[in-house]
Amino acid sequence: MKNIALVGFMGTGKSTIAALLAKILKVSYVDIDKRIEKKEGMSITDIFSQKGEPYFRKVEKKIVAEISLGSDQIIACGGGVVLDGENVKNLKKDGFMICLEATPEVIINRTKNYKHRPLLNVDDPKLKIDELLKKRRPYYAKADHTVDTSGLSEQEVAIEILSWLEGKGVK
Ligand code: S3P
Repeated sequence: MKNIALVGFMGTGKSTIAALLAKILKVSYVDIDKRIEKKEGMSITDIFSQKGEPYFRKVEKKIVAEISLGSDQIIACGGGVVLDGENVKNLKKDGFMICLEATPEVIINRTKNYKHRPLLNVDDPKLKIDELLKKRRPYYAKADHTVDTSGLSEQEVAIEILSWLEGKGVK
């Protein structure tokens, strides 16, 4: 089976849905952020604060390239993966890139109680979310398919993706 990479903004449900899809399709679930943390031996927050975002992006890019070489995987990507053209090329080379989206209000609600996202650990997370969403819109638009998860349950999102994949000949 081709790889299926889930991209999209923080809080749109990528990790949860990727794990669910992997279970349904009986293939591997890979989480890029978890791989980065394992490789570096520290949390994403510590990587950002101790080594900086450019260093994080370099490691992220290397892991995306490595993982893209495999097949039969559902890949949960960090929200900024699409900012790098080579990442997008790698993820689409032998796979589909599916974007999960949600309204800013839903994103705020889903992310407000967690502190593991350095980009949102700021005084005004709402403003930051609006800014980043605006900047990133054209990058997320490169996905092969997009699902708005705002009013959907996890199961409904998975069903939507599965039926799209079926149309593409993926079972
Ligand atoms: C980021 C999203 C995070 C993580 C890092 C940067 C981003 O992943 O990769 O904090 O730039 O949007 P999630 O989207 O899984 O929260």
